[in-house]
Amino acid sequence: MDTISAKDEGEIFWVYLDREKKKNAINTQMLRELLYQLDVIEQNEKVKVVVITGKGDVFCAGADINEFLNLNVLNAYEFSKLGKLVTERIEKSAKIYVALINGHAFGGGLELAMACDLRISQLKSELGLPEIKLGIFPGFGGTQRLVKLVGKGRAFDIILTGRRITGEEARNIGLVNYVFGEEEFYDESLKLLKELAAKPIATLSLIKRVINDGSDLPLHYGLSVESLAWGMTFSRSDINDGFEEFLKRKKYKY
Ligand code: COA
Repeated sequence: MDTISAKDEGEIFWVYLDREKKKNAINTQMLRELLYQLDVIEQNEKVKVVVITGKGDVFCAGADINEFLNLNVLNAYEFSKLGKLVTERIEKSAKIYVALINGHAFGGGLELAMACDLRISQLKSELGLPEIKLGIFPGFGGTQRLVKLVGKGRAFDIILTGRRITGEEARNIGLVNYVFGEEEFYDESLKLLKELAAKPIATLSLIKRVINDGSDLPLHYGLSVESLAWGMTFSRSDINDGFEEFLKRKKYKY
């Protein structure tokens, strides 16, 4: 792998966008390598939580603008589709994905983060979809996922103006879940990652399925999917452990 790197810590698997000299800009090779890496992770039964983060001081500067110079209608379409394959791979995964936004996250980088289940940002990180400043617009699912995360009005503002927002504003509008200052960023993030990894993956996966699939369905069907999945939770052989722990010791197990 030339554009990404990885660290396997058992239940937590780290994927680094790793083109530090180019501020981790996403090129076609990076999308292909991500797709391959995420497929490998999916087969790894030990992994519960996948972290996507950037090497160096930036999360990701967006798509590699150098590649745009050679795009025509057909390969621009293919590039966008490849980006969508990666973001959909994340969304449809049985693992929980967390974007650790260690620095600025722009364009395709923010779109990658938006496909994740949770986003943790540094206070100093700036986030944005600046494509309009290049005369284009987000093509890895940003126009759709941003609306779902922050609502149509805010999505229009962010995409039409291309303005950069602070980590704090991103948290206030629901674009990121947590914001930490530089000093505590890794420690606090790690605490959260470990907390997630301690939970039963079968239930985490079902929650992910129900929220992602359910939000695309009319409420009636979404509720039905929830009930089916809720029932399935009780197929876990250790399902009573959590209840017994609470009833005996008044403590939560997970
Ligand atoms: N595509 C291609 N190359 C990029 C890039 C991108 N999206 N973003 C940064 N780079 C390259 C720069 O051209 C520079 O290359 P060079 O060293 O060969 O000249 C290198 O990465 C370092 O970038 P630089 O701008 O010098 O770093 P910085 O620390 O001053 O600023 C950013 C970092 C991320 C704030 C700034 O690079 C930036 O705003 N990038 C573009 C963001 C954008 O519009 N993304 C949307 C793409 S659709």
